[in-house]
Amino acid sequence: MHEFRYKRNYLYCEDLKVIDLARKFGTPLYVYSYKTILDHFLKLKVAFREINPLICYSVKANSNLAILRLLVKEGAGLDIVSGGELYRAIKVSCPSERIVYASVGKTDKEIEDAIRRRILFFNVESLSELESVNRISKKLNRITNVAIRINPAVEPKTHRFITTGSLSNKFGIDFQSAFKILKLRKRFKYLNLCGLHIHIGSQITEITPYISAIAKIVNFIRKLKKERVSLEYLNIGGGLGIVYDKETPQTAQEFAERVLPLLKKTELKIILEPGRFIVGNAGILITQVLYIKSTSKKKFIIVDSGMNDLIRPALYGAYHKILPLHITPTAVQKVDVVGPICESADFFAKDRSMPKLKQNDFLAIMSAGAYAFSMSSNYNSRPRALELLVKGDKVYIIRERENYNDLIDREVIPDFLK
Ligand code: LLP
Repeated sequence: MHEFRYKRNYLYCEDLKVIDLARKFGTPLYVYSYKTILDHFLKLKVAFREINPLICYSVKANSNLAILRLLVKEGAGLDIVSGGELYRAIKVSCPSERIVYASVGKTDKEIEDAIRRRILFFNVESLSELESVNRISKKLNRITNVAIRINPAVEPKTHRFITTGSLSNKFGIDFQSAFKILKLRKRFKYLNLCGLHIHIGSQITEITPYISAIAKIVNFIRKLKKERVSLEYLNIGGGLGIVYDKETPQTAQEFAERVLPLLKKTELKIILEPGRFIVGNAGILITQVLYIKSTSKKKFIIVDSGMNDLIRPALYGAYHKILPLHITPTAVQKVDVVGPICESADFFAKDRSMPKLKQNDFLAIMSAGAYAFSMSSNYNSRPRALELLVKGDKVYIIRERENYNDLIDREVIPDFLK
């Protein structure tokens, strides 16, 4: 599943002992495994080889340039959602014809930049956005490729904050409205309405919501064909769940076996937008125990990483395994693992059974490759962590630790206050 394993009681990332990295580079520290990222990308590629889809890695999951470059070099495309992500895609020389652009709120400037770059297509989420892309294309005298994001009204059975495919979510366009738009497509003279897109949510561990969403889309494509609306692409989004704790998500192979028969019926070029599946288990966050504090009710392990480094537990109540970098035989105790930030939501684990810990021990917060660093912040004026990429017995700094000056670099005290 991943390349973080114990050897002789020490946690390793590929061929390197993580505790050595923690001592050398300090904490909080993100460590990513090259091989784990690559393996997961290849798992999907192999599972779907029969139809050779374009796999557009979802940049938001982890947008570090080194990780993007690694995947682009392997032939991945990129799924972007902002001008900033387009900028990153350009920086890693991602070919334009491998970039797809979603988001319910693209600005005119973002749309114009992406049109100029001739990306593969926009995933358009509303009628007014469609009108904007048409207007801007006209101004630039370009025909722009567009896929309509359909909201297929399915319940993906994941955390309510990360479902996107039901009609109470802000995402996509319902079938009926999409049908009308596609029938009237000639109205949009500067658009080539060439595809459909769905993305029903994230961390989906059951296959049934995918099947029902894709089956609905396949029917819709059939209906469109009857109306002589032909398309070129079907983008089935991302969302594949991973193991954080006791989940048993579908493997890439199982997923492919179930959805391929449906996808093949469409005869369209297929796009996938996985994020978490590729990087989720490929990263860990290393932290050091600062203090151990007991109250009459609880025992707290206070560590030097906080919700600014990894907000998933605070935001979604998400579970991340926490492992010591060095195992010593000790009794188990129930503790809360908490950060130094002035918020009660600043925790990594509650009432968790952990081996007995001492001050200065190092811990690894597992499965922190996706939506971890990319959602980090400077809250409480904490510089963002250093990021390392390990490949075999080699280690590379892929983002320097921020310093105090980085925190205030853009701030200005107006003259009248001086
Ligand atoms: N495509 C679209 C249009 C998306 O909105 C997303 C994720 C993806 C692809 C990639 O989804 P994935 O394969 O990574 O599940 N911050 C949350 C997850 C938010 C997902 C947002 N959209 C978390 O930490 O769980």
